[in-house]
Amino acid sequence: MGYDAQYATYQQIIEQALERAIPIQQADWPEQTMPKMLGDAMRYSLLAGGKRLRPVLLLAAYNLLHDDVTPALPFAMAVEMIHTYSLIHDDLPAMDDDDLRRGKPTSHKVYGEAMAILAGDALLNMAYETMAHSGHANALAALAQIAARAGGRGMIAGQTADIAMEGKPADEHMLRYIHQHKTADLIAAALLGGLALAGANHKQLALGEQYSLHLGLAFQIVDDLLDLEGEQQLLGKHTGQDAGHGKLTWPAVYGVQAARQDAARHIDTAVTAANGFGEQGQFLAQLALNSLKRVQ
Ligand code: IPE
Ligand code: IPE
Ligand code: MG
Ligand code: MG
Ligand code: MG
Repeated sequence: MGYDAQYATYQQIIEQALERAIPIQQADWPEQTMPKMLGDAMRYSLLAGGKRLRPVLLLAAYNLLHDDVTPALPFAMAVEMIHTYSLIHDDLPAMDDDDLRRGKPTSHKVYGEAMAILAGDALLNMAYETMAHSGHANALAALAQIAARAGGRGMIAGQTADIAMEGKPADEHMLRYIHQHKTADLIAAALLGGLALAGANHKQLALGEQYSLHLGLAFQIVDDLLDLEGEQQLLGKHTGQDAGHGKLTWPAVYGVQAARQDAARHIDTAVTAANGFGEQGQFLAQLALNSLKRVQ
């Protein structure tokens, strides 16, 4: 199977699983499950599309060692739930104050701020419940990888720094800290979660760590560039937001040209790591290369 068909196959498996994850509530306050207004808000953001990059990475990592990815699906769903919650909260007025996401009004615009916060909270909890019920022999090792990288030493550390550095002078150390934690860490959570679940050895985990760090850094540099030069229609989110908030971004600190070069350099390193997996690593190598020219 070629790269595009493989990505589409992963995406399709993920979409189907996510669609089933949160049942549509008929009653407002059903006894056995969640309130309708909460379930509706969760489904609104979780099923709004998006590239599904993190669950694709998790399945692809698992696929390096196993032909059947079905046992990894609960973990793929979980990383997308965590990612979606992070986007809902990232868009809140108290954070980036955005009103367009995945081509639709943001959660708080539709459901109000309180319900957006709660939908995010519930998605985060549902992620861990989903992993806990997987029944996979390596579930705990994968869960530990994901929890450490999504939490207060990982993605949330990056979001904290992103907010703390708003309007502050250029700072190369903090810029790298923000990009590594707010974005590369969740990408690493997916990749290393998939590898740990698959029972990868130390050498494979080290390659995965190298791959996801550099893919993640490049991914956020490109996100910064797309905020400056991207097409809102394709991106599904407003452009020109970062400068208005005084965000510490790669192009703001180094300029557009150098940002492009740095992204390409990180992708080179990611591709080298993917090649360490041999023929099996070609999907990951191609995914990294494609992320340089992405428009959405
Ligand atoms: C957006 O992530 C947030 C960043 C870390 C840059 P994506 O660009 O993967 O967003 P979706 O999931 O495709 O909507
Ligand atoms: C978001 O970074 C990273 C998250 C953890 C959600 P951004 O704030 O740059 O993401 P966008 O541009 O809103 O998607
Ligand atoms: Mg942000
Ligand atoms: Mg944002
Ligand atoms: Mg951005």
